Amino acid sequence: MVVSNLKIGLFGFGCVGRGLYHVLNNNTGFKASIESIVVKDPSKSRNLAQELISYDRRNILDRDDITVVVELIDDADEAFEIVSEAMRKGKHVVTANKKMLAEHLSELIELQQSYNVSLLYEAAACGSIPIIRTLEEYFDNEDLKRVSGIFNGTTNYVLSRVNGNYSYSNALQQAQELGFAESDPTNDVEGFDPKFKAVILTLHAFGKIVRPEDILNLGITTLQEEDSRYAAEKGYKIKLMPVIERVGHNRFTVFIAPRFVDTGNQLYNVDHEYNGVIVEGLFSGEQFLQGRGAGSLPTGSAVLSDISALSCGYRYVFKKYLQCKDLEYTDDVLVEIYLRYNIDTDISHFQWNKVEEKYQSSRYGYTIGSINLSQLIHHRQYILEHKIFVCMISDNLSQNTNQINI
Ligand SMILES: NC(=O)c1ccc[n+]([C@@H]2O[C@H](COP(=O)([O-])OP(=O)(O)OC[C@H]3O[C@@H](n4cnc5c(N)ncnc54)[C@H](OP(=O)(O)O)[C@@H]3O)[C@@H](O)[C@H]2O)c1
Repeated sequence: MVVSNLKIGLFGFGCVGRGLYHVLNNNTGFKASIESIVVKDPSKSRNLAQELISYDRRNILDRDDITVVVELIDDADEAFEIVSEAMRKGKHVVTANKKMLAEHLSELIELQQSYNVSLLYEAAACGSIPIIRTLEEYFDNEDLKRVSGIFNGTTNYVLSRVNGNYSYSNALQQAQELGFAESDPTNDVEGFDPKFKAVILTLHAFGKIVRPEDILNLGITTLQEEDSRYAAEKGYKIKLMPVIERVGHNRFTVFIAPRFVDTGNQLYNVDHEYNGVIVEGLFSGEQFLQGRGAGSLPTGSAVLSDISALSCGYRYVFKKYLQCKDLEYTDDVLVEIYLRYNIDTDISHFQWNKVEEKYQSSRYGYTIGSINLSQLIHHRQYILEHKIFVCMISDNLSQNTNQINI
């Protein structure tokens, strides 16, 4: 299926839409024409030919000559309406909307099969890093052990500052002033954005769809000076690290949490707005990809790569998903953590499998040990409200045995 005469209808002309426009117009190789751009706010002035702009989605969706819809808006619900209607009308779609994808993966795969169209979304996970195609094409046959990394540039920028001795609030403010963090940064700093990306990568790495609400996301909002001091004393940096990992033979787990990394870790030097992904195959071992995880031009270039792939008839075949492997999602695994609390009664909420180290002063305390992941999911709200900081200390995951109270 080669898509000739590629005519594009573009939804959204914000950070990524403008990036795509620039990349398309300044690229000497692949060319395609944007026929119409639909945006939301008529009061905004734009440096574009007036006849290109419209505020009505019908101007793209009802045009038969537009064969490709590129969806780059910031509203996941409206994006799903646009993308699903476009596919039903036989149009190919490229999108960067990780939230929309993570919430609707099975419906979208079904639409792709039923309407014989292609849906591509490389830009939705880790910006310019070609991780989806790497998993989909290169690792389509090999069983993977683990995919982990830094999937969010905003938190990595903030943490790079914190690791350099800024307080969390000062680092966040600076990230906002420089445009690396939005004025409402919740999605990033509470770990929702990397969770949506992890859901997408889980599909391509393990062939399974996990509901975002079943996955733990602990962000960096409860980080205090004591935690960054502890990390610095031990020679660690703190990174927000999603983990997608096989546990035993036929189970896998997914979680998003901060992690202490030492100088031996590939991610130690992935700083500022950069992302890094480590893919560990059962036979091939570890591969490491690093690049810009966000931003107008890097993300625009990932969208361009999908449009160009479309023109050659490329589509994801979801090989691992269709093979329906006997692999089940679980949160019943032991993780090794550092847990810092401010009030000593807080610690009694947690049942530990093993305690390695305890520290208590008049102002705060911490415990290092292993705990069941399901407990962290259960206590997530408590952790946030009580400003408890939880940080993974190792890659070791094991199956559960006895728990103890301390
Ligand atoms: N920014 C990044 O670095 C990055 C990286 C990877 C993925 N993404 C994803 O890419 C998508 C776009 O992000 P962005 O940063 O470009 O967002 P943005 O800068 O906020 O721009 C959003 C654009 O969408 C338009 N829009 C909103 N609702 C619309 C609707 N119902 N119909 C038509 N247009 C609508 C807005 O129109 P107006 O201009 O009229 O307001 C605006 O042009 C999001 O899904 C995001 O998660 C972003």
